Amino acid sequence: MTNQLDKKSQAWSALFSEPMSELVKRYTASVFFDQRLWRADIAGSLAHAQMLATQGIISAADWADIQRGLGQITRDIESGQFEWQLDLEDVHLNIEARLTQLVGDAGKRLHTGRSRNDQVATDVRLWLRDEIDAISALLVDLQRALVDVANRHVDVILPGFTHLQVAQPVSFAHHLLAYVEMFARDAERMADVRRRTNRLPLGSAALAGTTYPLDREQVAKLLGMVDEQGQPQLCMNSLDAVSDRDFAIEFTAAASLVMIHISRLSEELILWMSQNFAFVRIADRFTTGSSIMPQKKNPDVPELARGKTGRVVGHLMGLLTLMKGQPLAYNKDNQEDKEPLFDTVDTLKDTLRIFCDMVGGQLNPATGRKEGGIEVNAQAMEQAAQRGYATATDLADYLVKKGLPFRDAHEIVAHAVRAASTHACDLADLPLSVLQGFHPAIGQDVYEALSLQGSLHARHTVGGTAPAQVRQQIERHRLRLA
Ligand code: ARG
Repeated sequence: MTNQLDKKSQAWSALFSEPMSELVKRYTASVFFDQRLWRADIAGSLAHAQMLATQGIISAADWADIQRGLGQITRDIESGQFEWQLDLEDVHLNIEARLTQLVGDAGKRLHTGRSRNDQVATDVRLWLRDEIDAISALLVDLQRALVDVANRHVDVILPGFTHLQVAQPVSFAHHLLAYVEMFARDAERMADVRRRTNRLPLGSAALAGTTYPLDREQVAKLLGMVDEQGQPQLCMNSLDAVSDRDFAIEFTAAASLVMIHISRLSEELILWMSQNFAFVRIADRFTTGSSIMPQKKNPDVPELARGKTGRVVGHLMGLLTLMKGQPLAYNKDNQEDKEPLFDTVDTLKDTLRIFCDMVGGQLNPATGRKEGGIEVNAQAMEQAAQRGYATATDLADYLVKKGLPFRDAHEIVAHAVRAASTHACDLADLPLSVLQGFHPAIGQDVYEALSLQGSLHARHTVGGTAPAQVRQQIERHRLRLA
């Protein structure tokens, strides 16, 4: 059986005097990548058709046929039976042509009051909305994994760095919670993007709206394009609805930030795993050996995550550039939004899944506990914190408490550090008599201030690294993520 859409060149045939070359067909077709929108495409068609029927634009019998046909197509695609045809250009024409083959005229009525322009904009939004939900859930999982590891290491001391120079001791938990804050903001950004993504273009038709009495609000409700109060969310300008892809761009921007946070964490894991730090171990399943150096365990997964960040940021640049310079309304340029968007979603989801496992480990059903997550070498961290005069600021603060202005105290401590470094020892190793040589107000209690623990516990401002503060933050995150 042939029908109008069997060959793409026949979809708008009467006007065209020559067929497309094979190369141009391949160049313009999107079906081999946009077929992954099929579920959203069918959901959109069902909602549109149901509305056409309730509005009396198509008959109840047509609506029943469309449902039956799209049901069949769903099963065929799910079971891999569906034959995708390059000749039919994209996911939309492929499904519509098959529907018409299956149910005849009802299939041809589906496109009443609709254009592929509002159809594709709807599909991408529906698809992305669900992917955002999956990503948001993964962001929660990753935060939980980090909070769990943090909870076991509140009293583990790590040298905090600025300029990658030892600065002040911090709790390892505090360090991990910094990433929890980043991923929490990422999740907020995703929720925000979701709100603007979850709006309905259908009803805009090609660009100007349509002559049929469509009930757009009904379609929005059927597709779950509603706000928290259940109010339907519509794109309110037909030209804008079919043409802008800013929701995809802002999603990719939010995804880029997630990847950048992942990349920073990766960079730290890579450093911490190197023999020179030896602060942490990640499980062997995330590392590889070398084909020549038998002793090597390379942190391939964090390195790849750092590398893939470039790819996602590249997609953001691609999408921004795609949009720039497009006149209103729809242009075929927009077909190029899909591959970068799909790849961003795939890369981000895989990366988050792997990081959840790498940081937090996997649940062992026998013990009911997570195993195989990040392992911490507390001793190596503490030893590293001991080097580099991490408590020099504490000595300055100590002198301030004795009444000195901070700038003077800073200068005095610089002398003390210099003396300690010529003796190749820590500040706390200098005898009291030597320390008193720098300032007579220094007493025996200085050694408490100079200890790593003393330094840590002293930083008890809200959001500081004192263990009591860190425990409060862990509690807050736990409640938030419960
Ligand atoms: N495959 C197209 C896309 O992804 C669908 C919309 C085509 N619209 C058109 N007027 N050619 O953008």
